[in-house]
Amino acid sequence: MIVTTADLFKSAYGKFAVGAYNINNMEQALGLFKGHIEAQAPFIIQISKGARKYAGVKMLEAIIRACDEEFPEAIYAVHLDHGDEKTCYECIDSGFYSSVMIDASHEPFDENVAITRRVVERAHAKGLSVESEMGMLGGVEEHVSVDEKHAMLTDPDEAKAFVEQSGCDSLAVAIGTSHGAYKFSGNQSLHFDRIAEIQKRLPGFPLVMHGSSSVPKDEVARINLCGGQLDPSARGVDASEFAKAVPLGVTKVNIDTDGRLVWTRVHREHFQNYPANFDFRKPGEGYIKAYADFIVEKSKALLSAGTLPQVQSALTLASAA
Ligand code: G3H
Ligand code: 13P
Ligand code: ZN
Repeated sequence: MIVTTADLFKSAYGKFAVGAYNINNMEQALGLFKGHIEAQAPFIIQISKGARKYAGVKMLEAIIRACDEEFPEAIYAVHLDHGDEKTCYECIDSGFYSSVMIDASHEPFDENVAITRRVVERAHAKGLSVESEMGMLGGVEEHVSVDEKHAMLTDPDEAKAFVEQSGCDSLAVAIGTSHGAYKFSGNQSLHFDRIAEIQKRLPGFPLVMHGSSSVPKDEVARINLCGGQLDPSARGVDASEFAKAVPLGVTKVNIDTDGRLVWTRVHREHFQNYPANFDFRKPGEGYIKAYADFIVEKSKALLSAGTLPQVQSALTLASAA
């Protein structure tokens, strides 16, 4: 069942984080739904501009609608990831999305506020909520590449002013993560002190953590053993840190790269082990299972595993009121 992102956040804030995963194809969608049913966790399906171009808007919607029928127990929201203003309006008008992210974080503060405000007005009129981003995450986003050195942590006072002026419903904050497989050099972890300062200024307001893949070392090693050429020093966010971020207001955690690593490992190992195979359904089946298992583990780390019954009763209560 597709629900509003706002409803998921109401159930989650301070107790667990909702995992937000990007999808581009049927196999990812099947793994995502199966994994969350097994974990008994709500989730957010994220669609990027790149995914909309790759699979096509209608195809992605059809895949999700098919999964919705196939897995009636699932509770999830559909969200545009890193949208520009035009794509936000397309998604708002489509009637299919629960929420959109307007990413104007590369713009100066006032311009970011103005763009976000416009999107918020259009989205709220149709019952959607809006995520915006402030501060510069490192790594590569669709339209901007930011190196570690220039990535800036979100300033807590600016975050408060931004939320007040823009009217956004959740905020992606730069707290030490970055996109892609190469996040940290040397020893680093999330900046919990910074998250706590932001929460102090914005109590009860959902914060979003992008760039939250863990880039497991063994996954990278397995890929490289089968001919991959990923940098073995690649490392991401330690998933055990999610539980510490949850009471500080981190309510949505974005994970994409790790899922791509699962895909790459399963396919490389399959074709290494079965070089004569050309039936793509064989590695496809392996990938759906491996991705579902991966989702179960992430849900535990996000503390969302097992929360489906309580989310369901909160939704039932809200609709009865
Ligand atoms: O942050 C971006 C997500 O990982 C989506 O990636 O734009 O290649 O679909 P994409
Ligand atoms: P990762 O690259 O760490 O998976 O981050 C994904 C993301 O933030 C999508 O918006
Ligand atoms: Zn992101």
